[in-house]
Amino acid sequence: MVSGIRSTGKLHLGNYFGAIVNFLKMQEQHNCYFFIADWHSLTTHPTPADLRSSVRNVLVEYLACGIDPNVATLYIQSDIPEIAELYLYLNMLAYKGELERVTTFKDKAKTQPDNINAGLLTYPVLMAADIIIHRAAYVPVGKDQEQHLEMARTFGNRFNHLYGEEFFPEPQAYNFGNELVKVPGLDGKGKMSKSNGDHTSIFLQDTRDDIIKKMKRSVTDSGPTEPNQAKPEPIQNLFDLMKLVSKPETYAHFDNLYNTCAIRYGDFKMQIAEDMDAFVAPIREKMEAISNDDTYIANALKTGTEKARESAQATIKEVRRLIGFGKFY
Ligand code: TRP
Repeated sequence: MVSGIRSTGKLHLGNYFGAIVNFLKMQEQHNCYFFIADWHSLTTHPTPADLRSSVRNVLVEYLACGIDPNVATLYIQSDIPEIAELYLYLNMLAYKGELERVTTFKDKAKTQPDNINAGLLTYPVLMAADIIIHRAAYVPVGKDQEQHLEMARTFGNRFNHLYGEEFFPEPQAYNFGNELVKVPGLDGKGKMSKSNGDHTSIFLQDTRDDIIKKMKRSVTDSGPTEPNQAKPEPIQNLFDLMKLVSKPETYAHFDNLYNTCAIRYGDFKMQIAEDMDAFVAPIREKMEAISNDDTYIANALKTGTEKARESAQATIKEVRRLIGFGKFY
């Protein structure tokens, strides 16, 4: 199983309950390759300092959340040059027309019209190389990545067909189905997402004060007027958040207060803030410890990088043979 992590921004509770929790489960059950997709991030031309700090930040966050480098294979994409080589070969099999029709490309072309570079166009080719370099069977993907995964299958099959061997297996989407939880934001509508503003998300790096401040500002209404009335979206959202971080008794207590019209939103919000802080605190502390420990980070990557390279080298050796490369000297 292969999954790429984009090195953008800080993780929030939505990322934690939506994705990371599943990563933690997967690493126990499958042979997982998790990598930081730093080459992909070059499409937006980060400065060297920004690139470095965002890659480091993602590493620290994932390690603090419990990705175990002794269990999963953890590495950085740019440490595996064989991926770039496979990308080159796959680019010969990818057509301009089909790449231009990719939804994420069309969206990006709209949002950054002054920087529609070839890397952006061939993003799905690089992603295909990421996956098939390990001849992966499964890729855990959200809806937005399904088209990319489909293309990985297409490019792998084209390679097989051109060179006359069933070399690359078809990577399948690994769906979590019902296990996917929706984590609402604090703005009363929709899910937690950075694009709605930092004040609508609780980040794993938030301090206790940050959390309290944001919770105080979270959207509610004027309160229930009749017993057992249905909860409007902003209130249901806060209850959904409470369910993730609070004890079942606490949830039942506030649910009962709501149903009897005795709830005080100030207390309700403070309770959620307290429980969020209790949930985030150990991760936050671990992040602090890891971020000051270069040796820990280096060691966490060492075994994974070696294992990923071994796997990638084995693939590339066969790919070169199939294509027809061989030594002339
Ligand atoms: N495109 C993925 C995203 O935007 C990140 C990614 C890059 C990826 N390479 C991958 C995911 C390979 C799975 C497998 O989230």
